[in-house]
Amino acid sequence: MIRDHLPEELLRHLPGQVTRPVRRAVDELSEAVEVAAHMRDPRVLRTLGPSAARGLLLKRGKQGVPTLMHSGHQAHLDWTYPHDQPEMATLYRRAKAGQWDSDDLPWHIDVDPESPEVPLLPLSFFDVAVAERYAGKLSPAERQRFVHSMAAWMLSQFLHGEQGALLAAAQVTESVQFFDGKLYGATQVMDEARHVEVFLRYLESKLGRLYQVNDNLFTIIDALMTDARWDMKFLGMQIMVEGLALGAFSMLWEVTSEPLLKELLANVIRDEARHVHYGVVALQKHFREELSESERREREDWAFEVSLLMRNRFMMYEVYEEWFEHCMTRAQWRECVKAAPGLELFRTRMFSRLVPNLRDIGLLSERIMPAYASIGLMRYFDGAGVRELDAKGLLGI
Ligand SMILES: [Fe+2]
Ligand SMILES: [Fe+2]
Repeated sequence: MIRDHLPEELLRHLPGQVTRPVRRAVDELSEAVEVAAHMRDPRVLRTLGPSAARGLLLKRGKQGVPTLMHSGHQAHLDWTYPHDQPEMATLYRRAKAGQWDSDDLPWHIDVDPESPEVPLLPLSFFDVAVAERYAGKLSPAERQRFVHSMAAWMLSQFLHGEQGALLAAAQVTESVQFFDGKLYGATQVMDEARHVEVFLRYLESKLGRLYQVNDNLFTIIDALMTDARWDMKFLGMQIMVEGLALGAFSMLWEVTSEPLLKELLANVIRDEARHVHYGVVALQKHFREELSESERREREDWAFEVSLLMRNRFMMYEVYEEWFEHCMTRAQWRECVKAAPGLELFRTRMFSRLVPNLRDIGLLSERIMPAYASIGLMRYFDGAGVRELDAKGLLGI
C-alpha cells in the first residue's frame, strides 16, 4: 500500500503542524488513487469514479450545506394499477402492521455516555493498548471518553446513512416499475424518516455529539443518488448500504448495555429486514432474467467495488483526527482499527449479512468469487439470505 510507506525523509524535516496536513492529504490522495486504480471495469470507473472524486478528494460531504445531487431518473407511472408483485404486496401489509411510534421509546432514560457501569460499548471493543504504543497511557476517564467518541461516530454514520436511505427510497418509489413496489416503497420512506428522527434525537439529546459524514459513505450515497438507473439505486441502497447497516445495527444491539439504544436499534432492525427483503425480491428476477450478461457483469463489478469502499468506511478517521492525529500516522491508526476486536466483529457481521444476498440476486458468479475470496469474504457465501431470516433470527432472540 503506497500510503503505508510515505516519503518519511521528505516529511521529517518539516515542523509537526506543517507535516500533519501534508501527511493527511498524501494519504487521502493515495486512498482515492487506490480506489480508482482498482476499478478494472471502465463502466464502473465511469459511474463510481466521479462520486469517488467528489467524496474522497473534494470531500463534498464536509464542505457545509447544502449538498446538491442531480439524478436523471424517470418517474414511472401506471394508470392500470396492476397487482404485479404478490411478495411485495405481502411486505406492504407487513410494513403497515409493523409501524411504530418513535415517541413510544423510553426517552426518559438518563444516558451517561461515559458511564463505566452502563457502557455504550464495552471497553474490549477497541484494544487501546495498541493505540497506547503511540499515544501513551490513557487514563480510565479518557478511555470512557474515547468510548463516547466511537459510539457517537458510529451513530452519526448510521444517521447519515439513514438520510441517504430516506432520499433513495423516495427516488426508488418514483422510478420502480412495479405497482406493488410503489405502495411498499411509500412505507419505506416513512420508516426511513423515523430512523433519521430517532438516531438524530439520540445523538442530540443523549450523546451531545454529531460527526461529519464519512467520505466513503458519502461516495456511495452520491453514486446511487446520481445514477439514473432504478436498479442501481436498488442495488446501492437496498442491498449494499442497508444490508451492511443491518449487520452493523444488530452487532451494536448485541454489545451495548444502554437500554434506550438497545430498544431503538431493535425497532430499526425490524424495519431494515423488510427493506433488504424488498431489494432482494425486486432485483432477483431482474438480474437473473432481464439483464444481458454484460449488464449483469457491470453490476457484479460495481457491487464488489462498493463492498471495498464499505469495508474501508469503518476506519473512523474522524475519531483519529480528534484523538490521535498529533501522535500517530494514519497507517499506524489503521493498525489500531484492524486490531480492534469490536470492529472486526462489526466487519464480520456486516458482510455475513451482505454476501448471501449478493448470491441470491445473482451477483456472485464464479467469475467474481476469487475477488471476494482475496479480501476474505467468501466464507460468508453459504450464510442465510434475508428471506430466511426474520427480525427474530437477525437479533438471535
Ligand atoms: Fe433505515
Ligand atoms: Fe432502510
